[in-house]
Amino acid sequence: MNVYKIAVIAGDGIGPEVINEGVKVLNKVAELAGDFSFEFTYFPWGCEYYLEHGKMLPDDGMEQLKKFEAVYLGAVGYPGVPDHISLRELLLKIRKQFDQYVNVRPVKLLQGAPCPLKDVTRDQIDMVVIRENSEGEYAGAGDWLFKGKPEEVVLQTGVFSRKGTERIIRYAYELARKTGRTLTSISKANALNYSMVFWDQVFEEVGQEYPDVETHSYLVDAASMFFVKQPERFQIVVTSNLFGDIITDLGAAIAGGMGLAAGANLNPERVYPSMFEPIHGSAPDIAHQGIANPLAALWSASQILDFFGHENWGAKVLDVIEQVMVDKKTLTPDMGGVSSTEEVGNEVVALLSALKTSQV
Ligand code: NAD
Ligand code: IPM
Ligand code: MN
Repeated sequence: MNVYKIAVIAGDGIGPEVINEGVKVLNKVAELAGDFSFEFTYFPWGCEYYLEHGKMLPDDGMEQLKKFEAVYLGAVGYPGVPDHISLRELLLKIRKQFDQYVNVRPVKLLQGAPCPLKDVTRDQIDMVVIRENSEGEYAGAGDWLFKGKPEEVVLQTGVFSRKGTERIIRYAYELARKTGRTLTSISKANALNYSMVFWDQVFEEVGQEYPDVETHSYLVDAASMFFVKQPERFQIVVTSNLFGDIITDLGAAIAGGMGLAAGANLNPERVYPSMFEPIHGSAPDIAHQGIANPLAALWSASQILDFFGHENWGAKVLDVIEQVMVDKKTLTPDMGGVSSTEEVGNEVVALLSALKTSQV
């Protein structure tokens, strides 16, 4: 029997609340499937750990994580620790050091999900955003000169290597080819005269090898407008680290809200662990009340099942998430319900069990 070893970094704020439900659901799936199981190891890293130890994780933390195939992460960042410290030293460090250069973020309107757009049907919002996840605007390169002086200058440099740019664009082309879907690049070469001119050039060059893939290219400002006005324009989307961050929050908003959006940080070569997380943050405004929506964390759990080759179970978890929203009986307040995080998790577990029974 396969035993999948998963490192759990539940993190801050609502992180542990939603991850609890994810672990519960994954264990239930394993029990129902019968031929695999999960072994979860918890790492108490995050802002509380920082306040106690002066660092976000122990010095050998990354070494400890290397032993796992997957990391399941809640959220990092909380008032009391500067965000650029907590995020750069934990979440962004894992993405970069484990070369998780592909960030797969589905933007898909499930049935029953609250969509703020008028007259939009399920088939009109069905895309996958492939976000570059290792460099670009997040490279951390820069300088702070003449601090506090009148001539103060701050530099934040984007780094777009040929290797880094080609590999993410190639990944997106491959996905578009495999799924028979169109590929849209989102960039901004009219203003960013080095990075995005290069990005567009590489998109064209790599495209020569994929004459069968229909491509489009949008400036990020126009793309944002079309996400809202005509989301059906997009199928597979490839974009840089920062643009991908921003448009996937927009994507989350049109597809049901932050409580529903998931993302996989992949090291496709599987040399290092990949990481799965809801794309939302620690939500300090609703933390510790037991009312956070766990569905994004459950969608990430479904991505974990896909990652381990159990796509059939990944699809079932997604079906059940959809069922919960169609039923409307058990939803958290962000989706107009009155249920708790735990009640939504329990409902998903119950529906999964029922699914299995009815199939037998
Ligand atoms: P956020 O995603 O935490 O919250 C934005 C809004 O969405 C809030 O009103 C919140 O209540 C709501 N929301 C988010 N997730 C929800 C859920 N599951 N259920 C119901 N409502 C939900 O973003 P923020 O407030 O900008 O950031 C808070 C902290 O989280 C910051 O420290 C930020 O840096 C960090 N952050 C971390 C991650 C991550 O670890 N992956 C992602 C984004 C933000
Ligand atoms: C995300 C988050 C992170 C990002 C932050 C917390 C550094 O917003 O995963 O979308 O910008 O990548
Ligand atoms: Mn984000």
